[in-house]
Amino acid sequence: MVRLLAPAALLAAASTAASALSLPALARRQRIAVCDCGVIDTTDPNQAMWTDYFERDFRTMSRADVERDFVVMSYDIKRPVGLARSYEPDNMRVDSEGLKLTVSPANDQGEVPSAGILTKHKEFGFGHYTIETQSTPDAGLVHAFYNYESDENEVDMEYVTTGNGTQRLRTSVKPQLYMANGQADPSTYSEITPASGVDLASSSNTWSYIWNSSAVVFGLNDEYTEVLTRNVPQTPGTLAISAWSDGNPRFSGGPPAQNATVLVTRLWAVYNATGGSLECKARKAACGIAEAAQATTPHGYNNAVSGRAASSALAVAAVALVGAGLLL
Ligand SMILES: *[C@@H]1O[C@H](CO)[C@@H](O)[C@H](O)[C@H]1NC(C)=O
Ligand SMILES: *[C@@H]1O[C@H](CO)[C@@H](O)[C@H](O)[C@H]1NC(C)=O
Ligand SMILES: *[C@@H]1O[C@H](CO)[C@@H](O)[C@H](O)[C@H]1NC(C)=O
Ligand SMILES: *[C@@H]1O[C@H](CO)[C@@H](O)[C@H](O)[C@H]1NC(C)=O
Repeated sequence: MVRLLAPAALLAAASTAASALSLPALARRQRIAVCDCGVIDTTDPNQAMWTDYFERDFRTMSRADVERDFVVMSYDIKRPVGLARSYEPDNMRVDSEGLKLTVSPANDQGEVPSAGILTKHKEFGFGHYTIETQSTPDAGLVHAFYNYESDENEVDMEYVTTGNGTQRLRTSVKPQLYMANGQADPSTYSEITPASGVDLASSSNTWSYIWNSSAVVFGLNDEYTEVLTRNVPQTPGTLAISAWSDGNPRFSGGPPAQNATVLVTRLWAVYNATGGSLECKARKAACGIAEAAQATTPHGYNNAVSGRAASSALAVAAVALVGAGLLL
């Protein structure tokens, strides 16, 4: 694997400008730290090429880290049926196990404290999106992972916890169509029934979707089984994860009888950002995921936390080198 030059070494190199350090070697390393020729995920069945990569390992993040990249949901939704779903920042926590989103029993005001985060970045377009997550055995909440631009432009995966062993991961695009009898039309809605031995409630699984201009393909643990081709969203949006309940017996059920918490360990996306393009100046070929996680991609938002610290130092060092006329 390609290693970045330690930022401290680079900064030292920058400050001593014409030092004995081999500048061609430095420039090579500098170039390799930028994936400007796309990213390919080897687990993608289409082997599609995307412009950008975004990854967060919540187990390594502080609350401040989360708040830098995400809006912590803080608003109420009240529908004609059921209680108010009330997103509360205090119901979101992050620690060494990951991101924890808690749905609490209804409070005295008839609200169900819920939790969620959404990226500040709103430019997540067609792409391959995944979370690694463990839901909860508690009944009566919706655990959701979705790409959202508006109620008319959304890709959605949801697990409605039942608490009784019946599990299905609901997949849909919005606008969603309904049949005359009120049931979800299968052209915009499908369900993944977990394979035998796969437990959404009590073990960690990956939920994914691969979204392009003509289809969204949904998968559990890298088995892509559901394909929707109608009303495929065309507009980039934010990426969101939430856990909520409004007690509606026809959907979320609940609210849960006790605090029920879903855990998200990682989120990653290989995607086309608004305005993203394949420059192929620094590199001639696409990066793999492992490499992209340590690098910057053109949009500049996409490197992992550990990579970001290194790359912002790299950027500073590069500016210093350019200033010294040594790197273009
Ligand atoms: C439920 O979770 C909320 C939010 O994290 C917390 O304030 C409350 O103390 C919890 N209640 C119980 C019974 O653990
Ligand atoms: C489990 O709960 C769901 C939703 O509450 C219900 O549709 C299903 O029939 C239940 N299954 C069993 C085995 O009780
Ligand atoms: C979009 O995804 C579908 C389903 O995987 C695939 O058949 C199709 O070739 C893809 N189209 C493009 C333009 O990549
Ligand atoms: C993603 O963007 C790249 C570069 O513009 C393009 O070649 C590719 O076809 C796009 N992928 C999809 C699925 O639209």
